[in-house]
Amino acid sequence: MTTTPLPAHTAPPLLDPIFLTDLDRLDIRTNQRILEIGAGTGNITARLAQLVGRYGSVTAVDTDTSQLTPTSVIDPAARDLDREMLPGKLDSYDHIIARWPHPLRDPIDVVEQMIARLRPGGWLVLADFTPTPPRIHRAPDNEDATLIHAVMQQLHTTITNRDGGTWTADPETLLLNNGMVQYCVHTTTETWTGGGPGGRLVTGVVTHRRPHLTGITDADADRFAALMADPTVLLSSYERRFIHARKGN
Ligand SMILES: C[S@@+](CC[C@H](N)C(=O)[O-])C[C@H]1O[C@@H](n2cnc3c(N)ncnc32)[C@H](O)[C@@H]1O
Repeated sequence: MTTTPLPAHTAPPLLDPIFLTDLDRLDIRTNQRILEIGAGTGNITARLAQLVGRYGSVTAVDTDTSQLTPTSVIDPAARDLDREMLPGKLDSYDHIIARWPHPLRDPIDVVEQMIARLRPGGWLVLADFTPTPPRIHRAPDNEDATLIHAVMQQLHTTITNRDGGTWTADPETLLLNNGMVQYCVHTTTETWTGGGPGGRLVTGVVTHRRPHLTGITDADADRFAALMADPTVLLSSYERRFIHARKGN
């Protein structure tokens, strides 16, 4: 199953700055070669291109590369990773970055392909959602709390893998058993009242994923949107994880 990227206005204002700050923790230098997986609208691609400078390169893979503008640095590569292999030779990229390229049929195979293409000493960055469900702290009544829970639960299923994470519930074992060293992970959640950017983000995602949500009627979706705009509602986001690990020499 493939999905279109989120509309450009939906995710970036809230989530991009957090990810970009995370990226700044890595030592991405000019002239380096980067592979990005599931580049989508190219927000992260553009930042990577800035970091590697005019003589670096960013190969940006997605099934749909129509939103990526090729430049002398950015090379969009159309690939369906459910059927095709990643581009690039073994040990050839300085860093490989993947933020939420879901849903993938076999995410573990894609991680193994990434590691194989990473040069020794290079960084692999995987951004994902963990299996931890979101928490609803306050809702007008129990029925509304149940509705929020049902919708958030379904969204969580569409953005994670069978075992509960975007990549795997146990990235430590996967990465450390595949030659990665200097492993580091940090997780974040945010707690929002309705009516703010968090509520708008979730409402946008529900609209976008509406065809994939089962058992949610149009009236439910409308009520959910109203609750996400209601300042008496208080809920926590999904838990996001930023994993980075360096390949051993
Ligand atoms: C949620 S978006 C994330 C986009 C971008 N990485 C970001 O963080 O803004 C998921 C992206 O993964 C891509 N994707 C999903 N399945 C894919 C597949 N099988 N092969 C390649 N790309 C895929 C989608 O086309 C989409 O652009």
